[in-house]
Amino acid sequence: MHVPERTGTTAIAAQHVRKRFGHVEALRDASVSVRGGEVVALFGDNGAGKSTLLRTLQGVHVPDEGQIVIGDRPVVLGSVRDAQRRGVDTVYQDLALAPDLSVVDNMFLGHEVIRSGPCAAFGVLSRMGMVERADAALRELSIVLPSLTVPVRDLSGGQRQAVAVARAVMWSRTAVLMDEPTAALGARQSEVVCELMRTVAARGLGVLVVSHDLPRVLAVADRVSILWRGETALEADASDLTVPDVVATMVGYRAEAS
Ligand SMILES: Nc1ncnc2c1ncn2[C@@H]1O[C@H](COP(=O)(O)OP(=O)(O)OP(=O)(O)O)[C@@H](O)[C@H]1O
Ligand SMILES: [Mg+2]
Repeated sequence: MHVPERTGTTAIAAQHVRKRFGHVEALRDASVSVRGGEVVALFGDNGAGKSTLLRTLQGVHVPDEGQIVIGDRPVVLGSVRDAQRRGVDTVYQDLALAPDLSVVDNMFLGHEVIRSGPCAAFGVLSRMGMVERADAALRELSIVLPSLTVPVRDLSGGQRQAVAVARAVMWSRTAVLMDEPTAALGARQSEVVCELMRTVAARGLGVLVVSHDLPRVLAVADRVSILWRGETALEADASDLTVPDVVATMVGYRAEAS
């Protein structure tokens, strides 16, 4: 179904990350690596540390130990902006769009307006420029919406998530991180978002997706990384794994020894 164009370089990676919150050791030894052009699924039981690892890659948390790599270079991220500047953007679990703003405004929300080109003197991108850019970004992912000027609350859950994906892609040059992007969606809309992951990877970006939707995400992923209580239990090609394999590792890895 999919023909990944893997570039071979690391888009984003975490290497042996440890992260503690007070007494809670959210990550003990977590690693994941995503190359440009591939979709990597990060699976794990509730509380395994998936969101914490994603937030570390996104610049929200600074690892206590271990290293973050973006574009083949070790980096120290001080903030989400820092990660964005390096071409890494995120799609959140909770459809983090502003419901009363239009599609276009949401696509530009939280990002610095471009200050180059003929509009530089005004420090803003023209309204028409914004509409054109948003339209192009949506088209590139074959996302069809009734209108770009309707408030986002008038769209379906799937359409809203598609806007969130398009927004992340529009601002990403390196990798797109997704935390439970289908959690709020029905079956058909989840399929659409999973297909979008492939479309995004086909553009050469790395896609890292955290999900409990094992069958769907396993079907679109190139590789899988499984976290067990803050520790990377398995990294493997998706084609070598079945859903029962994934579940067994998620719940059973070293369980008998603990
Ligand atoms: N900011 C924080 N402060 C304190 N503890 C935290 C914080 N963030 C996460 N934790 C703890 O770290 C552990 C891992 O949480 P995390 O949210 O990363 O799990 P998860 O794998 O995303 O789980 P889920 O599948 O339920 O979303 C949990 O025990 C959680 O309570
Ligand atoms: Mg989580």
